[in-house]
Amino acid sequence: MPRKKIIAGNWKMNKTPSEAVALVNELKPLVANEDVDVVFCVPAISIIPAMEAAKGSNISIGAENMYFQESGAYTGEIAPNMLTDVGVKYVIIGHSERREYFAETDETVNKKVLKAFEHGITPIICCGESLTQREQGITIDWIRQQIKIAFLDVTPEQAKTAVIAYEPIWAIGTGKVATTAQAQEVCKAIRDCIEEIYDKDTAQQIRIQYGGSVSKDSAPELFAQPDIDGGLVGGASLKPDFGAIVNYNK
Ligand code: 13P
Repeated sequence: MPRKKIIAGNWKMNKTPSEAVALVNELKPLVANEDVDVVFCVPAISIIPAMEAAKGSNISIGAENMYFQESGAYTGEIAPNMLTDVGVKYVIIGHSERREYFAETDETVNKKVLKAFEHGITPIICCGESLTQREQGITIDWIRQQIKIAFLDVTPEQAKTAVIAYEPIWAIGTGKVATTAQAQEVCKAIRDCIEEIYDKDTAQQIRIQYGGSVSKDSAPELFAQPDIDGGLVGGASLKPDFGAIVNYNK
C-alpha cells in the first residue's frame, strides 16, 4: 500500500491563542486534500482553541513538545496525558531548536518517543545535520546515530506508525532549501537505517518528511521523491501558502 503523505505545520513560538484561532479559520478551507494527513503543531496554550476552530475539518492539531514523565515537579512542562486528554494525536519530538536552545539530547528524545507511544501519540521525530557536519561529509553517519538512539526499545509495531522529519539545520528558516537530491538521499538513508533496525515491512510503512524552508514552489518536487512522504513546514505554515503546499499534487 502506498504511504499516505503527511504534511505538518510547525508554528514554533508564533501566534497568540486568538491569532491561532483566526489562522486556523483562514487556512481551514485551503488545506482540504484527502490524499494528505494535515497536522498543525501549535504552541501548547493554543492547542485547545485551535482544536475548537479546526472541528469538522481535516486538520489534526498537534503539540510541539512534551515531557517524558507522567506528572510531578517539572515546572513548565506538559505531560503526555494532558495532550491525550484534549485529543492530541501528534507531537514533535527533538526539533533542532529544542536540541540547541533547550538542551534536548538523543537520550531525552528517545525517552519522549517511548512515552508518546505509550500514550498512543504519534511522535514526529526530528533529525538533521549542521552545515559543518555536511561539509565534513558525516551527514549520513550523524543521522543514523540520531535515528538509532531515538528508536531504542521502540517496537516494530510502534515504529511502523512513527513519523520522522529530516530537517537539515542549515536549511531551517534560512530560505536555503536542500536540493531535491540531497533531501531524497538522506530520507532514503533513514529508511535503510529503519530496515536495518527492524525489517523491510517496517521501513516501507514508516513516513519520512523533509523540513527546511519548504515553500509552495519547492514542495511538489520534494514530495514526488520516492522516500519523501511529506513535509514539516515552519514559516510557510503560517501563511495561505500552506494551502498550496498541502495541495502540492493538484
Ligand atoms: P522553515 O520551514 O521555516 O525553514 O522551518 C522548518 C522547520 O524547522 C519545521 O520544523
